[in-house]
Amino acid sequence: MTDIKVPLGSTDLSNVYFSILALFCFKLFVKISLNLLSYFYIVRGNRKEAARISAEFYDYGKQHGSWADRSPLHDAASQGRLLAVRTLILQGHSVNVLTIDHVTPLHEACVGDHGACARALIDAGANVNASTIDGVTPLFNACAVGSVACTEILLENGAKPQSLVYRPSPIHEATSKGHYGCVEALVTWGADVDMDIPHLGTALYTACICQELECARKLLREGANVQKGRSLDSPLHAAAEKDCTVVVKLLLDFGADINARNTEFQRPVDVAPPSSITEGFLLLYEATPRLLSQLCRQCVRSCVGRDRLHLLSHLPLPARLRRYLQYQ
Ligand SMILES: *[C@@H]1O[C@H](CO)[C@@H](O)[C@H](O)[C@H]1NC(C)=O
Repeated sequence: MTDIKVPLGSTDLSNVYFSILALFCFKLFVKISLNLLSYFYIVRGNRKEAARISAEFYDYGKQHGSWADRSPLHDAASQGRLLAVRTLILQGHSVNVLTIDHVTPLHEACVGDHGACARALIDAGANVNASTIDGVTPLFNACAVGSVACTEILLENGAKPQSLVYRPSPIHEATSKGHYGCVEALVTWGADVDMDIPHLGTALYTACICQELECARKLLREGANVQKGRSLDSPLHAAAEKDCTVVVKLLLDFGADINARNTEFQRPVDVAPPSSITEGFLLLYEATPRLLSQLCRQCVRSCVGRDRLHLLSHLPLPARLRRYLQYQ
């Protein structure tokens, strides 16, 4: 018997081309139908629906999934219609229904900052840890829009406070947008303040890049490592580069190393804009001896260790000293 060898060529290749063409035609067909549908709605006078369809049409891919595969529960949750959500649940709609992109109604409720709807969904058994194909969780959505109510409801019901390393991180998101309440809730429920994401660095580094003073302070009080930024870039480098003197002061207060070198072997003072206020401040700081009280505070805090910082309030010390140790 002889094997018949078909040379890899014409037939296989034309199959591939045919698949590509078919896919292209299908996408074209979908787009045209969407267009027709929105036209139909405009003609019928339903402008709101038309606007929604065209938003979906032009934002293809940016939005969570397409409108077509969203369930009535998704719609009700995203608009915060509690009564409708309750009714749909009573009628037996599954609370964990997914779109193609694995968006759940709970994701929608959180994006819209609809705490009551989120609670109703969770009470009916919605998965608090549900993740879209992009790794977005309801908690991430709540943090992105600064919904403290949703963040707390999710955490109280067992949502994990942080994601895996390469997934969208709630604490980084909340920090970058200055949503203090969300950062506070995440930390209270055990999110790791030193979580380091390769392309973003730590949450503290994000706070410095985005010049979010209060979030940076919160993270530091909770024991975030003041030296840990993104690879060799320290948070102080980021704040100096942004010429954000208040954050620079805060970091130095928490013991940031003024002589740390980044990958280009530069110190924070070298990356500050020339003759900026921050550069002047750093130069002056270098030439001034540290306060003994500050050095003691840093020493005590590092001896206590990050995981026991919350016990500082139980130390048998004068209230003023205790507050000093807690940076309050
Ligand atoms: C969510 O995930 C965390 C961590 O994997 C787990 O401990 C928790 O029980 C989960 N919550 C629910 C409600 O499944």
